[in-house]
Amino acid sequence: MLKRLQQKWNVNGKQFFLILCVFAITGTATAWLTRVITGWMGFTTGTFWLWQWLVRLGMLVIGYQVILLTVAFLFGQFAFFWEFEKRMLRWMGIGSRGSAISNELSAIGNEQRAMSDGRSAVSSQLSAAGSEASNLKSQISNLHPVHLAVFASGTGSNAQKIIDYFRDHPTIKSTLIVSNKPEAGVLEIARREKIASLIINRENFFRGDGYAGELKALDIHWIILAGFLWKVPESLIQAFPGKIINIHPALLPKYGGKGMYGHFVHEAVIAAGEKESGITIHYVDEQFDHGQHIFQATCPIAPGDSPELLAKKVQALEHTHYPPVIEKLVTNR
Ligand code: GAR
Repeated sequence: MLKRLQQKWNVNGKQFFLILCVFAITGTATAWLTRVITGWMGFTTGTFWLWQWLVRLGMLVIGYQVILLTVAFLFGQFAFFWEFEKRMLRWMGIGSRGSAISNELSAIGNEQRAMSDGRSAVSSQLSAAGSEASNLKSQISNLHPVHLAVFASGTGSNAQKIIDYFRDHPTIKSTLIVSNKPEAGVLEIARREKIASLIINRENFFRGDGYAGELKALDIHWIILAGFLWKVPESLIQAFPGKIINIHPALLPKYGGKGMYGHFVHEAVIAAGEKESGITIHYVDEQFDHGQHIFQATCPIAPGDSPELLAKKVQALEHTHYPPVIEKLVTNR
């Protein structure tokens, strides 16, 4: 469950550990402070229940948030938790008043249990975060579908598989094809499939906002790289945090990096005498083929296999796995 949460938040192991520490310390500190305040106010077990609840509600709604951001700041995790707070507030605003109050009350229940044990405070915060995310997700997908932009520089066989897979999907749409090459085969696919396309140029991509403005205007939620050969600029990564993924035709971290694409990868794998190769689907960060792995699948290499034959085996893996992995990822977030 922790592994899933780490993937959902798209953070590395160290940041995940720091985030758990922030939750743990905040839970314990809030519980301690609530005890101090109720003690200072002279509360006893005989105190009218409504007063006790009001103080705890106040601590949860205001005190907890303030402590969370303070501890997050001390641990260098302010940006993550600020996003978290904003989503939580938005979520509270989306729900009806009644359900918001009932959720508050159940959160108070969690808080009271957490007070009895510092460790249970961590797990209840984690499950609260998980259910908050899944509530928000189902509300959003009910409102409108998730739009994908597929970035490709070449033939676009993966793009075609993605389009086919999501053609009649109830909540996920292949909305836009983006290419840096006006002559790329993938643009012909876009024309045939009547999908909007965007040809990007180097200047705007690397010096402007990476076309983030155009993509946001088209309501794009996820960017799917499928044989896209330019490095993704930081501006675009920041505009779509945790929402850009790539497929690479080898088992990363081997055979990745600048210049490692298409047949160059397969030639290198064969030249190294590897016994197997495969595919890696991963989040995109500022380095080529470097972000956190999401999925890998392997295929054997027989003695005498040529790079061309290996390319076919790897392509078959890509076509089989990329669309369902995208679906799983997009549906779970
Ligand atoms: C795919 O094999 C993909 O893994 C690779 O380009 C090919 C595109 O094929 N991507 C890279 O090498 C990225 N480093 P397609 O145009 O037929 O989908």
